[in-house]
Amino acid sequence: MKETQDIANQPKNLERPPIVLQIKDLYKSFGENNVLNGFNMTLYKGENLVIMGKSGSGKSVMIKCLVGLMEADSGSITVMDKDITTLNQETLDILRADIGFLFQGSALYDSMTVRENLEFPLRRHSEKFDHKTDTNTMVIEALKNVGLESAIDLMPSELSGGMKRRVALARTLILQPKIILYDEPTSGLDPITSKEIILLMKDIQTKYNTSSLIITHDVDCARYISDRMILLIDGVDYTVGTFKELSASNDPKIRAFFKQ
Ligand SMILES: Nc1ncnc2c1ncn2[C@@H]1O[C@H](COP(=O)(O)OP(=O)(O)O)[C@@H](O)[C@H]1O
Ligand SMILES: [Mg+2]
Repeated sequence: MKETQDIANQPKNLERPPIVLQIKDLYKSFGENNVLNGFNMTLYKGENLVIMGKSGSGKSVMIKCLVGLMEADSGSITVMDKDITTLNQETLDILRADIGFLFQGSALYDSMTVRENLEFPLRRHSEKFDHKTDTNTMVIEALKNVGLESAIDLMPSELSGGMKRRVALARTLILQPKIILYDEPTSGLDPITSKEIILLMKDIQTKYNTSSLIITHDVDCARYISDRMILLIDGVDYTVGTFKELSASNDPKIRAFFKQ
C-alpha cells in the first residue's frame, strides 16, 4: 500500500509555498544492489521535511546524489527550478552556495581551529560576499547562533560531540544557505544533546526561514522537528504525511518505525 498525501494539513484553497527542491523517479544501484528504485520528494519553502529510513536504506546515497557527490542512474533533481543534472559547473557552484550540507558525523578539519574551520567555506565561496565583509564578524555571528562564541580558538579535539555538531552547524550557516540538508544530525549524541541540537535547528529555521531536509532514523528527532515526513522503504517514498498521521498508521511497515 502506498499512501500519497500531498502537503498534509493544508487547506486546499490556500496557496502552497513555492517548491525549492524536487526529486523525481530517482534510481541508483551498485551492481546488484538496487538502493533507490524510483524515489520522489518535494521540499516546500520554509518547511522542515524529514526523511526517515532504516540503516542502509539509501538515505545518504539519496542526499549525495542531491549534492552531486554521487551520480544517479536516472531521475531528475531540481533545485530552485533548475535541473542540476543539466547545469554547467559554474552555475552549479553558484547554486551550491545556497545549499548548506551538514554531513553525517561533523566532518570538521581536525588540524584547524574552530575559527579556521568556519573561515574555510567563506574563502571557498568568496564570490557570495563582497570583500569589504569582515570575516571575523561573520565567524563570531555564526558561533553566536549556536551558543559557542567562547570556543572560537579551540581545536576540534578539545570539543565534546555536541559542541562539534554545533560548530559544524555554524559552518553550514555561515554561508547563509536557503536550503539546509542534514544527514543524521543527532547520530552519536546522547538524548539531551540531541534535543539541544534539534531545538537549535528549529531556531535557525525560524530566524532565517530556511527550508530543511532532515535525514534521520531517530524517531524523537522526527517528532520534534518535522512538518512533514517521508518514509524511505525499499528504495521508494513509501508514504508521506505528518508525524501524527504516520505514527497512527496500521500498516506494519510504517508501524515498525514508531515501535520503540
Ligand atoms: N559508494 C558505494 N559503493 C557501493 N555501495 C554503496 C556505496 N555507498 C552506499 N552503498 C550501499 O548503498 C546502500 C545504502 O547506503 P546508505 O545510503 O549509506 O544508507 P543509509 O540509509 O544508512 O544512509 C547500502 O547497502 C550501502 O552498502
Ligand atoms: Mg547514512
